[in-house]
This record gives sequence, C-alpha cells and structure tokens, in this order.
Amino acid sequence: MGSSAASADLVFFVNGKKNVVQNPEPELTLLQYLRSDLQLTGTKLGCGEGGCGACTVMVSFHSPDSDTTQHYSANACLLPLCSLHGMAVTTVEGIGSLRTRVHPVQERIAAAHGSQCGFCTPGFVMSMYTLLRNSPTPSDEQLDTVFEGNLCRCTGYRPILDAYRPFTKGGGCPLGAECCQNKNKTGVQNGHPPSNGVPVENGAVPNDTDELNGSSENGTKHTGVSYDPSQEPIFPPYLKLEGPTLHTQSLVFVGQRVRWYRPVSLAELLDIKKHNPDCKIVVGNTEIGVEVKFKKQQYPVLVTTTHIQELTSVQRLQSGIQLGASVTLATMDAALKDAIKELPEDKFRVFAAFVEMLRWFAGHQVRNVAAVGGNIMTASPISDLNPLLLACGATLTLVSTEGKQREVKMDHTFFKGYRQTAVLPNEILLSVLIPFSQKNEYFLGYKQANRKEDDISVVNAGMRVVLDDTAKVLDLSLAFGGMGPTTVMATTTMKQLQGLTWNEELLNKACELLTSDLPLDPGSPGGTTEYRRSLTVSFFFKFYLTVKQKLQQQAKPPVAAVRSSDRVATQPLERGPVKGFQWFEVSPESLSPNSALRLPVVHESAFKQATGEAQYTNDIAPRQGELYLGLVQSKKARAKLVRVDPSAALAMPGVVDYLSHTDVPGSNIWGLLEKDEEIFASKEVVHQGQVIGAILADTLANAQRAAQAVVVEYDVMEPIITIADAIQKKSFYPLNLLVSNGNVEEALSRAECVLEGELHVEAQEHFYLEPMVTIGYPTEDGGMELACSTQSIAFIQSAVAGALGLPFNKVKVRARRLGGAFGGKETRPAMHALPVAVAANKHNCPVRCTLERDEDMLMTGTRHPYLGKYRIGFSSAGKILAYDVKYYLNAGCALDMSYQVSEKSLIDSDQSYNIPNVRAEAHLCKTNIPSNTAFRGFGAPQANAIMETALTQVACHLNMAPDKLREMNLYKEGDVTFFKTVLTQCNLRRCWDDVKAQSKFEQRRKEVDLFNSENRWRKRGIAVTPTKFGMGFFDKFLNQGAALVNIYTDGTVLISHGGIEMGQGLHTKIMQVASQVLDVPLSKIQVDETMTNVLPNTTATAASVSSDLHGAAAVDACNTLKQRLKPIQAEHPDYTWEQTIAAAYFEKVVSLSASGFYKPPGVGYNLKTGEGLPYLYFTFGSACSVVEVDCLTGDHQVISTDIVMDVGKSLSPAIDIGQIEGGFIQGYGLLMLEQYKVQGDGNLLTRGPGSYKIPAVGNIPQSFNVTLLRESGTTKAVYSSKGIGEPPMLLASSVLCAVYDAVRAARIDEGLNPFVPLNTPATPARIRMACSDRFTRLYEGAEKKSGKTHWFVDL
Ligand SMILES: Cc1cc2nc3c(=O)[nH]c(=O)nc-3n(C[C@H](O)[C@H](O)[C@H](O)COP(=O)(O)OP(=O)(O)OC[C@H]3O[C@@H](n4cnc5c(N)ncnc54)[C@H](O)[C@@H]3O)c2cc1C
Ligand code: FES
Ligand code: FES
Repeated sequence: MGSSAASADLVFFVNGKKNVVQNPEPELTLLQYLRSDLQLTGTKLGCGEGGCGACTVMVSFHSPDSDTTQHYSANACLLPLCSLHGMAVTTVEGIGSLRTRVHPVQERIAAAHGSQCGFCTPGFVMSMYTLLRNSPTPSDEQLDTVFEGNLCRCTGYRPILDAYRPFTKGGGCPLGAECCQNKNKTGVQNGHPPSNGVPVENGAVPNDTDELNGSSENGTKHTGVSYDPSQEPIFPPYLKLEGPTLHTQSLVFVGQRVRWYRPVSLAELLDIKKHNPDCKIVVGNTEIGVEVKFKKQQYPVLVTTTHIQELTSVQRLQSGIQLGASVTLATMDAALKDAIKELPEDKFRVFAAFVEMLRWFAGHQVRNVAAVGGNIMTASPISDLNPLLLACGATLTLVSTEGKQREVKMDHTFFKGYRQTAVLPNEILLSVLIPFSQKNEYFLGYKQANRKEDDISVVNAGMRVVLDDTAKVLDLSLAFGGMGPTTVMATTTMKQLQGLTWNEELLNKACELLTSDLPLDPGSPGGTTEYRRSLTVSFFFKFYLTVKQKLQQQAKPPVAAVRSSDRVATQPLERGPVKGFQWFEVSPESLSPNSALRLPVVHESAFKQATGEAQYTNDIAPRQGELYLGLVQSKKARAKLVRVDPSAALAMPGVVDYLSHTDVPGSNIWGLLEKDEEIFASKEVVHQGQVIGAILADTLANAQRAAQAVVVEYDVMEPIITIADAIQKKSFYPLNLLVSNGNVEEALSRAECVLEGELHVEAQEHFYLEPMVTIGYPTEDGGMELACSTQSIAFIQSAVAGALGLPFNKVKVRARRLGGAFGGKETRPAMHALPVAVAANKHNCPVRCTLERDEDMLMTGTRHPYLGKYRIGFSSAGKILAYDVKYYLNAGCALDMSYQVSEKSLIDSDQSYNIPNVRAEAHLCKTNIPSNTAFRGFGAPQANAIMETALTQVACHLNMAPDKLREMNLYKEGDVTFFKTVLTQCNLRRCWDDVKAQSKFEQRRKEVDLFNSENRWRKRGIAVTPTKFGMGFFDKFLNQGAALVNIYTDGTVLISHGGIEMGQGLHTKIMQVASQVLDVPLSKIQVDETMTNVLPNTTATAASVSSDLHGAAAVDACNTLKQRLKPIQAEHPDYTWEQTIAAAYFEKVVSLSASGFYKPPGVGYNLKTGEGLPYLYFTFGSACSVVEVDCLTGDHQVISTDIVMDVGKSLSPAIDIGQIEGGFIQGYGLLMLEQYKVQGDGNLLTRGPGSYKIPAVGNIPQSFNVTLLRESGTTKAVYSSKGIGEPPMLLASSVLCAVYDAVRAARIDEGLNPFVPLNTPATPARIRMACSDRFTRLYEGAEKKSGKTHWFVDL
C-alpha cells in the first residue's frame, strides 16, 4: 500500500451530527447506513441503481483552496459510505420536521399537492433543496431540469414543478399576466368559458384555500412561504477546520470481503495498484455499484481516486481542455461551459457538442459523482461520451504502475472488444484531452433514447467534418454507439467521402456507405436493428443539413440553400416551461359550517411525506430478534427442478435456515379464483423469478447473498412466452369468453366498408416507487400478524391462513400506507408474504422480506399484454355499424385476475361509441411468464387503444377528420349500451364539446395543418378522444364498504375503514365526508391504518370505487353517531362539539363508536348470462392533445393536453385533479413509452429504472390543462361524486391518436397509405419506422427477411 499513514476511522457528518465509524464496511452504501444504523428512514430505497432519485441526499464539502462550501445532490443508494470522509450529508430529516419547523421546500410540495403516495417526495425535496442551496433564486430552466434524476409514478409532475415555481427568478406562474392570481377568480380566462369555479393555476393554491387547508398533521399552520438562504444551517465548523487534514489523509478500510483504499497521491495509487493488480478503481460508483448489486460482481479491492490532484484537475492547454480521469461529469460540464463563454465559435464547436450530450446524460445525482474516466473505461457500447471522444480525436494519457506515461489517441483502434480497451492491465487512465475545434471544422453529437431524459442511448453519434474553402471534405470522423459491441467508427465512409463536395451527391453516397459500414445482425443485442440502422443515416442527414446551413450562412463558398421545409431537421425538439391551469367548481350547495367537503384540501399525509416522517412498511423499526428473508428465484421460465442444494448457502455467515415447500405447514398452493400457484416451487418452475426457496439470515444483505449461493439445477423445457406461441400451441385457460349484441356478421356483410386490423398493446410494469415488503410477527396464540404493503389485506389474510393452516381469526394483516400500488399490490404481495409467514411461523420470530426492485419486477407480473384483432364495418358517411373484436390476453403462468380483466375489456369493448352490432371475444393465453394481474384500468385501456386505432384506420380510409368520425358515433343520453344499460346523466358529449372549446380545437387543427405543409421532417398531430368508464365490480359481493368511526372524549374522531391509502387520497376524502356529516373540522379527524382485525372481509382497494364504498359507509357510521348526539344538541344548542361529546359520554352515557356499511343497489353482473348491472354509473371525460414528431428519429413531444373530466360533484377537487393528471401520465407511459422487454426464452431484460422507463418530468405536456366538468353530479354515489382513479388513464389515447395524425401527414408526403398501426408503446422506433422514407427504406424488412430470433419479443 501507499507510503502515507493510513486512517481506519471514517469521519463525516449527517444532519449536523458527527459520525465516526471505525472500520466501516466498504460494501455499505450511505443509504444502508442511514436507514439501518441511524434509523433515518426518510431517505427511501426505490431502486438501488441510481434510477429513481428516491434516495436523494445533499452532500457538502468545504474547499480550502477557494474557501467555499460546495453542495451537490447524490443517490445515497450508490454512494459508498467510505467515500464520505470529511463530507457533510444532509437528508430530508435534516432540513425540517413537523416537530420543529417545516422547511419551505417541504412545505411547498405538500401544500401544492405535489405528494400523493409520497414515496418519491423526500427525493424531490432534496433535489430542490440542493438546487436552492446553490442558486437561491434559480431560473425556470434550472427548475425544469433539476428533477431529471427523480421519478414520480403518481402525480404527473405538474404540481411538483408548480410547487417550486415561486422560488424561481420569475417567481411564479408561467402564465404571467394570464395567471388566475392576477385576475378576477370568477372571470373568463384564456378564452375559457366563464365558470363560477375557483381556478387553481400552477399549484398556486388560492389564498382563501390556503387558510382552510394549510394545516399540517400537528395542527401547525403552513402557508406558501419564500426561501430564505440565511436560515440554513452552517457547514459543520469541525469539517471546515479539519478539512485540510481529512481530505489529505490516506485511508484504508478493511471489511469482511472488501478492502477500500483512498490514496492521496499518484505515487501512492500506482503503488497500491502494483501490489493489487486486480484492484478496481472507483470514482462515482455508478457503474461498479450497479455491477455489484445487480450483476453480482465481486471486487475485493476498491481504490478511489477522488483525492488525487492529477486525476481531478481541469487544465486548459494549447490544444484543448485536459480533464483528469476522476473529474465528474458536472465539473466537466461547467468547465466546458466556461470555455464556451470565453472562446470564439470556431474553437468551441466540439465543447458545445459535449455540453449538449451531457444535458441528456443521466440525471444530476449521477452527473454530480460520475467521472469522465469511468465512462471511457467502462467501454460500454452505448456510452454517450465515447462516440464524441472518438469523433473529435481525444487523446488519453495513461500511466503504468511503473510510472511510465503514454499518450493514446482515441480512434477506431481504441476499443478492442465488448468492454475492452487499449489500456493495459497495469495502466490507469490519468486524463483525457478534448481538442479545440478549428476554422471550417464542424462537430455535432446525437443521442437517441426512448426517453429523452435520463435514459441510455439506442444509438448515439459524434460527427466531425473539416472542409476546405470550396466545401470539399478534408477530414471526416463518424463514430457511433449502439451499433455493435463497441463504439464504432464508420471508417470506409470516412475515407471514401474525403475530397467530395458537401452536396446531395455526398449525402447519397454517405447513406450507401454507412449501410455497408455499419451492419447489424437482426438478432443483435438491443433489438430494433432496422430502426438503429435507419438512425445512423438519419443522423448523418441532420448533420449534412446543419453543416450545409452553416456554410450557407457564411456564404463561403456559395452553396445551395437548405430547403425551408428541410430546415426543421437541424433543430432539436425544444421545450419551454410547463404551464397549465386546473379548474374546478365551488358548489353552491350549503354545507356544514365546519365541513371540508368539496374543498381542495391537501392530502392528509402530505406534510409527513415531505418531511420524511411518514412511515411505510419498510420504515417500521426492526424488533428484537428480527430475521431477514432472501428469496431463491428461478432463473428459467420453464423447467423441472433436478436439484436444489442450499448447503453452500447454509454455511455462509449469518445464515439461519433454508426454507422450501416442505416447511409449509398448511397448503403450498394458493390463488385467487383458482388455487394454481405454489408458495415454493416443489417440482417444476413455470416462470422466471418464481420462488423456489428462501434463506433466513441475520441481515438482509446476508440473506440475499446466501440466496444467490443456493445451487439449482434445471431440466429446461421449451417455454411458451408470447401470445403467438400460445395461439400456435393452443395454450389457453379454459375460460374463453364471448359477448355480443345484434348480428355482427350480417351487419358486416351489409356495411359499405369493412376494414380489418390488429394491434399489440404490450405489458406495463406497475413500477410503484415502493417495492413490496412484508414483516411477519408470530403472535402469542400461534397466529400471525403481518405488516404488508398490499391493497388487499383480506386476501393476504386468507392466503396466509391457508399456508399456515390457521383459522382467519388468528391472522391479522395491516397496512398504513403504500408507496403506490396501481393494482400490482392486490394479490401479488402473496408471493413474498407467504414465505415470510412460513419462515416466521417456523422460527417463531419476526421476519422481514424487502424485495429489491429487480426481484419485484421479475416476479410480480404486469398489465396484461393484448393482441386485438378486429373487423369494423361502417357507412361511407362514417357511421360505425359493426365491431367484431377478439382479444388475446397474455395471462401468464397462473389465472390470478385474468378472467376479470378480460371481462372488463369485453364489456368495455364499445368504449364511448354507440355501435349497434358488437361482438367481443376474449382468449386467455397460458404462458411461462409471471402471472399478469390487475393494473389501473383493468383491461379497459387495452380495449380503448384497440378501438381508437380502429377508428383512426376508418377515418384514414374515408379521408375524414377523425374527430368528426368519433363525434358522429359518441354515445348520448338515453342510448342503450350493448350490455343493455340505459345511459342516464350521460355527460360524454358535454365533456367532448367543452374540451374542444377549451383546447381551441378548430384553430389548433388549422395551425397543425399549416405547420405540416411547411415542414417535411417534423410533423404535428392533434386528436380528441373520449372516455366512458363504468364503476362497480361485476362480482356482487365485492361491492361493499365498511367503516368504524370512534369519537373520543376530547372530541377527536378516529376513522377506520376498509380501504387502503396508496397515494390516491382516499383517507383524505373519507375525512372530508366525515367532517361534513359530523360538522367537525378536519383537524379533529384522523384515519387509522387499515387492519383486518378492525374491519373484516374488506374488498381490495381497486376499481376506482373505494371512496364510493367506504365513503358511503363512513357517512352511514357518522349518521348513526349524529343521531345519537341529536338529543344533546337539541337540548344544548349552544354546546360546542367538545361539550356535546363530553355530555354524551359523561352524562347521557351514549356509545361514541359506530360502524357503517354500504352496498350500492343492484350492482353485480353475470357476463355469461348477461344478467344484472355491471356498473352503477359512468365517469366520463375527454382529452385533446397536440404533439410534434421528429420524423427522422421517431421522437415526439406533447405540446399540449386539455382534459375535461366529469367527476360529478368532487369530494376533493385537488385530489381528483391529482388523479386525473397522474392517471393520464401513467396512460401515456403505457401507450407511448414503457417498453417491457422479454426474450424468447422468457428472460426479462427490463429489471429496473435503468432499462424500464416510466414517464419523467420531461414527458409531460408542456401545456397541461384540466377542468372538472361544470354543473355535474350523479345521484348514484356518495355526495354526488364519481370515482376517478382509473378513467383518466384512457385519455392518454389522445396522445397516441395525435401521433397517428402526425404520422399520417408524414406518410401522405411520401405518397404512402396514411394509416399504419402503431403497436404500443409507440416508441421512437415504431414511430420512426411508420414515418417511412428513403432512409428507412434502406433497411425495412431486413429483420423479417432474416428469419432470425429477435433480441426481445412481442409478448
Ligand atoms: C442512473 C444511471 C444513469 C446513467 N446514464 C448514463 C448515460 O446517460 N450515458 C452514459 O454513457 N452512461 C450512463 N450511465 C453509466 C455511468 O454513469 C457512466 O459510465 C459514468 O461515467 C461512470 O463513472 P463512475 O465514476 O461512476 O464510474 P465507476 O463506477 O466508479 O467506474 C466505472 C469503471 O471505470 C473504471 N475506472 C474509473 N476510473 C478509472 C481510471 N482512472 N483508470 C482506469 N479505470 C478507471 C472503474 O474501474 C470501473 O471499471 C448511467 C449510470 C447510472 C447509474
Ligand atoms: S433508490 Fe437510489 S436512485 Fe432509486
Ligand atoms: S407521489 Fe410520487 S411516486 Fe407516489
């Protein structure tokens, strides 16, 4: 090791407190330390791979050189604890608390409705906090980009941005003078029809509602406050004083398996490497951390190079900028930006391309710690920097352990193979020199990813050309990522274009040469090979035009002008600040004086969530003797288990036991409709990720590590993975269903036109931010109590009772709150909760199982992938006469809820359209993927996408405006649906008309058409789509709600009800309802966690009806109590509430506890006989979206979305608006973004946020306007409100249809059939290939022709 004296103590601060850790374990991350050692559970574990931002903290250090304190955000899940010597960490608990003072950053997000389930909230708070510590009044742009490393699955981001807009320089609403705050609140705004409502614009909760709703959990008043940097804690003086010592100390930490070195000089580093040739250099740990955690790599010696001057300095040299290999990407970005400010354009063109690339490289938390050297040395074929470095001819300085330095130019010889470079094993990378550009040199970078923000590239490129004064090519470099196992250069193209003039001829030749230079086998890793090859020439075309435009601007030499219709190809899809408005109506009805009903109150837990004080299941402190469970999951999709050998695992440290099917005292079989799943696989596995056994150990890490060491031998059988496989092999559940009305065949034969089509709607992963977790506690009477992250405590109770052979009354299940669920936590938590119960029962001790994100994604199933095949008959005027649709659902390996999901699709196959003849059929495919399950919308979104696609096809065929076609066929009042329900209070057409008016549809249509006529490579599209979503469970018994209301002698009220709070604001709504009935303020009401021992036999919280069911039950209970109090109130009308309650208890001896029950009249439907009522009522809505598509890359952007939603008379308008925005964005994810990738053998490729992309902040419509339909109401549900959780999801089809509209314009330009189906998600690959042109035609059909197996399959 090095020569300096080494320290064995790690010294750092957390929230102002000094922490000294002797011999810290190098494998420990900051997140583990915070949560386990310090019990600071505000920082959440959402993914463990730097992809979700739930673990964001602020790290600060004092630089003695500049005497400044610097702050940056980082992902605690990737930050090695050992890297924090001399640093100060601030967590969400460190900035504010409900017990002391809530920080303005916490307060704003809570008060502006930016926290629903709240699991993401501490991460957002800390990202914003760090921004403010560095820029107390940030720009709008800083705000709009600061959350690129933070994901939220609930809110749709708009309220989060709006919450913080007041902190920006502009200081408020992007609508400026148009903002409601500057206008009469009841006036006409933005051309919107007058409303008597209170508009809430951009999260600026009106002052009057601030007064009503700003109270927090502990009764503290919170109002919108400004940020005052002088109130921030100072940097710990100890660290300032001792900094020079702490930062120059060599460190060696020796753990059980890993040693950690922190040398402080180059000589010391080389010495360590000499003595430990296989040591791993670590800087940001953003690669290594993921490799260790998810790829199970082991690196026994880690050496961090963050404190070696030669590796951390930035120098401006004669020829360019030299960056030490450990320079972080954030520092690199700042240095290049500084240079750009100072240099002439000729010189900084290369730097500008790097800056633009870094803009799309990961999120802030990663860029703040990840180093340039780490990116180069990882040698990933999709590295974003390497194509640029190759194209600009960067020079690397390497140093060997002998101290010898050499320079290596990054060219086509640098990468030697997959993740291999020309750097020798005894060398390290010292620095990289990025050259200045020269006169007549042009340099650009391109990155295409499925999601623009924080996503890995599909293809990226660096392109450089040097021209002479006659525009002849002197030198050309073209480097590409994503086109092979390494970053590659198109060397033949580069050579052969030399000497050619920069004109159309060169372009044609380049396309031809690139095609042969960059071959890609159709089965290549990454898939979408036709698209990727098309991108290479599309990028070159963009480069060609941009350079040509530059030449034209200089007029030297004279070059032909770039056609005006081509010019747009040179411009990026730009986004401005997100803006929008939210309208709701203040009801004229008279309410109780203390009632909070219909007010836009803040989510009851929002403040706790924002301060990190809200407790989720995994935040429950461990009990004495608690053990941890690590699951042994199948690696194969279908196989016989030949041998399962846990002996090696049992010998590992901390391991207590291995559990298998032989340990189950009751039944090893469980299921919802059918008992068709095993707790532990006994003889064979039927999907990848299936639980075979489990390891019980003293820590989670030991349990997980040992679980990996269990040897499983498989006899692999051919799996059935896709719908196509299942159809071919006739693998179906014997439950195929049919519904019909009229005579479809006859109507089709008589129709003037009949079209056929099919659409794949692919899987959608729930991606709740909180992975599943269960803790089991054996009880004194041989029973079991479980804290479980489930939407269905009653189901878990019955499943556990079955597994343990216990009566139900000995099993208690409880859930306080869930960090999102979306249907994924109804039945699937049983997969890990049952092993927990078995283990806790066997060992008679508390047992906890926390699923890692990859484990969760591997086993818990998704939304059902659908193949829809349809025939549609219509008149030439556009009247739809017959619709015949067959749905094939990929149900997976077990039935679970697939039957019910298909029922929903069948009954909803008509969607919002009155079609006289409908026949719908559903086939449930039995396959070897995890059992698919409930997901928000429950089969309706798939039916919706298929119907709206069919209508788009009809409109294209008739050359008719799609909105006219839809309008003509919309249901109206009094129409009878094909399942014989008469539509009453049908507000569908009102929503439709209002949204067209709100969005100024006719005017926008003209603008879109004009734009499309002027631009060839960018097309816009506009579409309006409706929704009619039925409310109720088909199973009659599920339509029931229950509540227990207790009033205590101090007048406070505690409600228990049968629903689970998972972010949707259910508890808040129930409190509002109770406040109306009892006439008490919200501050006196509390909702308890949901428990099977308090309310038995509860229905899963699902189907958007929980506020209807449990709200009405709470009303029932409150009414009972009110009746009991009535005599006292009549006798003492002057009594306060507290006095009334005291009198009831002490004097009249009245019971202050009442239970309530509710079942909606008549709901329950038998699909086979067609008898009964499927729905009590419908929630209606319409949306209009405008999009812009980059035809050359397939990227799109949602310019605007307007929604008008009929929620009846809203119980809680802000909560309902939150559901609408969040649901819409989740629907957008399903249809436009989220690609779940499974290989032909059943291997899941998308196991975390790195590979599975949910919508991020940059995906939301730039203008996002929501109106709650005026003067609505229903006689059917509690206080005339309507359920809202699911319906808005379906409105995302407005984006899909707007993209269809844009694609149609592109295809018309090419003289093609304007319609082509876009399987969903309509990824950039699918959109690009639909915008077929001369570039795509070079490659179209290659995959099909090859007959090769694709990298991943359509499920
Ligand atoms: C959420 C997330 C998003 C990401 N997004 C992107 C993205 O958009 N684009 C992209 O290209 N990458 C992305 N990455 C990958 C990664 O962040 C980058 O490759 C980053 O630059 C790695 O730097 P690091 O310091 O964290 O590397 P580390 O993990 O610390 O090290 C990476 C490798 O480099 C080696 N190494 C480091 N320094 C030296 C040296 N001086 N000499 C020799 N070997 C060295 C290490 O030994 C190790 O093998 C992402 C990663 C995450 C987790
Ligand atoms: S938990 Fe750290 S980024 Fe997701
Ligand atoms: S509130 Fe953001 S994930 Fe739930």
